[in-house]
Amino acid sequence: MARDIGHIHGYYSPNDLYNKIIDRLNKLGKDLSKVTLDDLQPVDEFHIRGDAATRELIKLAEFRPDMHILDVGCGIGGSTRRLSHETGCRVTGIDLSDEYIDTAERLTQLLNMQERVRFHACSALELPFADSSFDGIWSLQMNMNVEDKVAWLRETIRVLKPGGRAVLYEVCGGKNTPLYFPVPWAQDATMSFLVSPESFRDAMMCVGFEIQVWNDKTDLAQKAFANAKEPVGKPKLPVLGVYLLVGNDIQTKAYNLHRNLDEQRVSLIETLAVKPNIS
Ligand SMILES: C[S@@+](CC[C@H](N)C(=O)[O-])C[C@H]1O[C@@H](n2cnc3c(N)ncnc32)[C@H](O)[C@@H]1O
Repeated sequence: MARDIGHIHGYYSPNDLYNKIIDRLNKLGKDLSKVTLDDLQPVDEFHIRGDAATRELIKLAEFRPDMHILDVGCGIGGSTRRLSHETGCRVTGIDLSDEYIDTAERLTQLLNMQERVRFHACSALELPFADSSFDGIWSLQMNMNVEDKVAWLRETIRVLKPGGRAVLYEVCGGKNTPLYFPVPWAQDATMSFLVSPESFRDAMMCVGFEIQVWNDKTDLAQKAFANAKEPVGKPKLPVLGVYLLVGNDIQTKAYNLHRNLDEQRVSLIETLAVKPNIS
């Protein structure tokens, strides 16, 4: 694995993640035979505004039950499962982290959703799928770790069928730099590659996407992080939370994200784009 991906892989590789989540569910008194999507939400939707954002994106996507969707950079599969549950479509999730994919598979079995929701560990820059394999693309907050946006987007559109829709929900840069680190997706600047929303949009159009919807969601992100405080002393962490995915300094990361949003160093967009039909 190339160094530029290797250290990002390392960041998203906690040990024994599935068992840690099961341990926390037990501590919360959950009956493991009755665990629901909502029970896992505090840990398995690792993007700004969590499940609220996922549900808005599901409405935007309008994917149908007969479709097969690719979730690019799926993490431990929270929104992958939610997407399938709400729409009835089949979803395949891919992620760079073997530990996340192992956890995604086991959580999906726990919820008995494995017939329609599958996972695969690989890089989004080298997808092991034939051209035009998927009816839709779904990708939530992954671009930040990818330096070559055009190479990633070219690979994404390659596996999408002509006429297929892609829904992306992405963190971009703002008019000010540099970022305060660490942030939820990066311990330091060597792992974070933010570009302006305009450059991101240009990269999408450069590989052939037709942008149909483009919404700036920065104000909602600011509201979501408005109360993030600089932590003092030992962190007081919830029983179940995304700190299990990326470390106990999550409150510092949330506080820095709040500062980056408020000082226009970070922005948030959602977009729906189409791969044109071949004429
Ligand atoms: C902030 S998390 C978002 C996870 C998930 N989409 C969600 O919303 O819960 C970013 C994810 O991107 C993945 N990732 C980063 N670079 C990647 C790459 N080159 N290929 C595949 N996945 C990648 C990470 O492993 C991580 O799971």
